[in-house]
Amino acid sequence: MGDCWSDRFKSVNPHTGLTSLTSFRSKRGDGEHSHISSSKVSSLSNNIVVDMASEILHCSNLKHFSFNELRTTTRNFRPDSVVGEGGFGSVFKGWIDEHSLTPTKAGTDLVIAVKRLNREGLQGHKEWLAEINYLGQLSHPNLVKLIGYCFEDDHRLLVYEFMQKGSAENHLFRRSSHFRPLSWNVRMKIALGAARGLAFLHNNDMNVIYRDFKTSNILLDANYDAKLSDFGLARDGPVGDRSHVSTIVMGTRGYAAPEYLATGHLTARSDVYSFGVVLLEMLSGRRAIDKNRPTGEHNLVDWARPYLVNKHKIRCIMDNRLEGRYTLGQAQKAANLAVLCLATEPKRRPSMNEVVTTLEQLQKPSEILRSEGGNSLHHKANPNGV
Ligand SMILES: Nc1ncnc2c1ncn2[C@@H]1O[C@H](COP(=O)(O)OP(=O)(O)OP(=O)(O)O)[C@@H](O)[C@H]1O
Ligand SMILES: [Mg+2]
Repeated sequence: MGDCWSDRFKSVNPHTGLTSLTSFRSKRGDGEHSHISSSKVSSLSNNIVVDMASEILHCSNLKHFSFNELRTTTRNFRPDSVVGEGGFGSVFKGWIDEHSLTPTKAGTDLVIAVKRLNREGLQGHKEWLAEINYLGQLSHPNLVKLIGYCFEDDHRLLVYEFMQKGSAENHLFRRSSHFRPLSWNVRMKIALGAARGLAFLHNNDMNVIYRDFKTSNILLDANYDAKLSDFGLARDGPVGDRSHVSTIVMGTRGYAAPEYLATGHLTARSDVYSFGVVLLEMLSGRRAIDKNRPTGEHNLVDWARPYLVNKHKIRCIMDNRLEGRYTLGQAQKAANLAVLCLATEPKRRPSMNEVVTTLEQLQKPSEILRSEGGNSLHHKANPNGV
């Protein structure tokens, strides 16, 4: 077991120089994540984890925050500083000086998000390390910026740029006055930004498979520019003649590709499938898995497939909250793209570069498309929408 672990730890991606690491997802209270038994992990001693962390952190350019600094910047992790909760732990808002990166008064300088790992065992440690390993060394306008970390005693925290509008999940599915329904154009803008992030990861130089693409991991800045966060499950893609990497199945139910679930064989096309699920969530305003829906409608992909392949029925799956403010042409094009991404056979799915090209064509405001002859669905009733 120890050998297996150290082999994995030391394998370095020949393209990027990134250290490869097998990642384990900490389980969320709602049991949403597929995840492995932690028995293998728990046989490792804490010391090994600590040694590994030092080695990985040694080669990254991130700021090392003291626990005290992060306690100060979040005002002692005050509940009213919390901006979100996930499987990893709570996320707090804080402020630091732009140049020295030291804590400053609330409301001044650089706003940060501080993610604090729940202290509940080794699974979170590995996720925390993978985040630093990948995100700490990757830079792209559609990836959230990791500023630093805290590694002190048993404290594990991550410090990111603050994303003002939070996650796409909140905007799509939360019902509150704080979250106005997203327009068609904003949805397509978010889809394009997220697709560009994935395309960057998949390119030959990076060769990274993200493995946890979902709306809660798409964060939005003040202009609704999308950035991917959470690289805890990311893996190096196959190299040489290998067609896939073999992994223990990890990810989030409803988003993972069927062949990956069945075989554990992971490829970049698994991410493309997850992208198709997210695109469908954007079109329909429905969650990938929703047990509160009537029988037969729990799984979004299974429910939507018959409508997607019939161009006369596309409007049956469209989100009522769009109020018909898009053209039939736009809806069909986006639905076709979702169908391609959701192909059962991975090789039939488009590459993320192809997805980006299609989404770029969908960025025209609906008014322009309508004047070009698009058929608006404005105010048509939606028999199956939310
Ligand atoms: N950099 C950030 N800026 C602003 N808000 C953030 C940032 N990172 C996370 N959040 C907020 O915190 C919430 C929780 O994020 P987190 O990544 O911990 O969990 P999640 O993505 O919701 O679930 P999972 O554990 O399955 O990934 C997000 O939904 C988002 O609202
Ligand atoms: Mg997340």
